Amino acid sequence: MRAYDIIFKKRSLQELTKKEIEFIVYNYNNGEIADYQMSAFLMAIYFAGMSDTEIFDLTNVMAKSGDIMDLSSYGGATADKHSTGGVGDGTSLIIAPVVASTGIWVPMMSGRGLGHTGGTLDKLESIPGFRTDADVSEFIGYLKYAGMALIGQTQEIAPVDKKMYALRDATATVESIPLICSSIMSKKIAEGSQTLVLDVKTGSGAFMKSYKDAKELAQKMTAIGKKFGRNMSALITDMDTPLGNCAGNSIEIRQAVEILKGNIQNDLSELSLEFAAMMIFKSKKAETMEAARQTAQNQISNGKALEKFRQAIRMQGGNPAVADNPDAVLPKAKKSIKIKAPKSGYIAVMRTRDIGIASMMTGAGRRKKEDRIDHSAGVLFFKKTGDEVSEGETIAELLYNSSENIDEAEILMREAFIITESKAERPQLIKEVIS
Ligand code: URA
Repeated sequence: MRAYDIIFKKRSLQELTKKEIEFIVYNYNNGEIADYQMSAFLMAIYFAGMSDTEIFDLTNVMAKSGDIMDLSSYGGATADKHSTGGVGDGTSLIIAPVVASTGIWVPMMSGRGLGHTGGTLDKLESIPGFRTDADVSEFIGYLKYAGMALIGQTQEIAPVDKKMYALRDATATVESIPLICSSIMSKKIAEGSQTLVLDVKTGSGAFMKSYKDAKELAQKMTAIGKKFGRNMSALITDMDTPLGNCAGNSIEIRQAVEILKGNIQNDLSELSLEFAAMMIFKSKKAETMEAARQTAQNQISNGKALEKFRQAIRMQGGNPAVADNPDAVLPKAKKSIKIKAPKSGYIAVMRTRDIGIASMMTGAGRRKKEDRIDHSAGVLFFKKTGDEVSEGETIAELLYNSSENIDEAEILMREAFIITESKAERPQLIKEVIS
């Protein structure tokens, strides 16, 4: 078998056999197949697509590129959630401590920023000392100690996804249903949680721009999870407007702490609590979704979710004072530019992908794989879709230290808000539940 023939076959729109998929992924993981051939293979999949059987085989071989965790010895419920990626999407930072504080283990393996979207690991690393590079034994240790773990991909769990993910980011092959499906599901299957809730985003700031594609992706991921015996649900959620009040790293941590303290209620807190409730309900810790929502809300009101967050930060080497006084602990940007409304009216559109790119240009994300993140940079939103604004009012603010790309970021932000005279509606946050 040769990689060339497999690439040629996929490029010719033919269905690959299990053996062919195994050959190319297995040998890429071992370093026997070079990046350039894997890049061509990924691009062939991007254009030719894959059948359900091929997607299952690809997911399976990617999951088996490392260990498959068995968390059954815990004896209790295990649940995780994964998002297809968005702007201002800090839900994991809130969901993990809320759910773990109810006694459910949350083994969460997250990603870094991809394209214009932010990454949970980058956000967490803005907390001084916080480590995301745990190996499997530390990962299990975290779960035993705090009932939750927020780590990056390891050499032991779905290692080939780490390599393929980085390659896709550099070769414009991210927005592909078979590739997103296999990337997310291989990690989630390997990580071993019994219940899995997926956040499939749709809209201008999502990888799946159309509703039809988001639904197809949600259906395929849930079907694959079920084939592996997992308890699956997916929500299709809005990404035509960024989530929450900011996009960046330390600023999203600060916002998450305020939500865990019960001080902020916004679309981010609403979505996070809905996901937490779904994980609690699907793990059979509540009889109805309504009861699960109440439990999730209680964990915020009684301070248990914040206490769990503090414990998890301390356990992973971070400064736990971030849970009490984030401003005293987190890095802050030295410079800022205010974006003002050019006229009075209603915000009808926020070009969410452009806002994500503007945030990346402040230094909050990577333009190239090797770039270092500025954890204090990002974008604040004072007004969002549907809000009324007056001419000259500040609607957003760019936070930065390096001026390198800031002019471009400012132009993107100025053009990202479309203001109309007629009243505009906020997009519906949760569009559909797929179980
Ligand atoms: N998140 C992932 O883990 N993989 C993707 O391909 C997209 C989002």
